[in-house]
Amino acid sequence: MKTLLVKYTPREERSSSKKLLDIFRNEIKNSEIEILDLCVDVPDMFNVESINAYIRRNYLQEELLLEQKVTLAKMDRMTQQMKSADIVVVAFPMHNFSMPASVKAWFDSVMLKGQTWNNVGGKYFGLMEGKKALIIISSGGFYTKEPMMYWEHAMSLAKIEFQFMGFSDVRGILAEGMNADDEIKTTNMQKSMDEIKIITQDWFRK
Ligand SMILES: Cc1cc2nc3c(=O)[nH]c(=O)nc-3n(C[C@H](O)[C@H](O)[C@H](O)COP(=O)(O)O)c2cc1C
Repeated sequence: MKTLLVKYTPREERSSSKKLLDIFRNEIKNSEIEILDLCVDVPDMFNVESINAYIRRNYLQEELLLEQKVTLAKMDRMTQQMKSADIVVVAFPMHNFSMPASVKAWFDSVMLKGQTWNNVGGKYFGLMEGKKALIIISSGGFYTKEPMMYWEHAMSLAKIEFQFMGFSDVRGILAEGMNADDEIKTTNMQKSMDEIKIITQDWFRK
């Protein structure tokens, strides 16, 4: 059973989301782990060449020229890497009420028609059945209660992306209030750590 850890934690040792991911990693250290650091291996964004190559290949079933294939090479690599994992864990901070652009670019890279989802006769379905996903996010503010819950587009979007790809078990841990006072921060970090331990018990030690 392989676990892919996808991280975007540019504050490194000061990062709460990195701390939580490290706890997850430590809990499963005896299993097969692969790491994708989006700060180092930055995903491509669709540009004029790559989006047209993608549509020709994945929607119109056309053969691509070598230079067109090259424009999709990194997206294809990241897609194959995600498909090779049984469990995918993504960790990142909330940026401007959503996921950082690199994380969105990773989702755009792996959500390729015919690879991780499909549409046949107008019906959409995911192709990643049987896989599990965990999203770990830390935020400065609070988003579990009204009215701020409507401003939250990081966890809600990440969950939808995995569900759209057909992942069978999609869970999320939001360590909120990281810009609040130390007591709240410590309590919320502890709560997230406890949630991580419950999930690793559930997924790895049944
Ligand atoms: C560029 C930037 C944008 C941010 N936007 C938000 C935001 O929209 N909402 C929020 O609650 N916190 C926001 N924050 C605060 C971070 O989400 C928060 O400090 C988080 O705990 C940082 O995670 P890290 O410690 O893993 O880097 C932002 C921080 C930065 C640097």
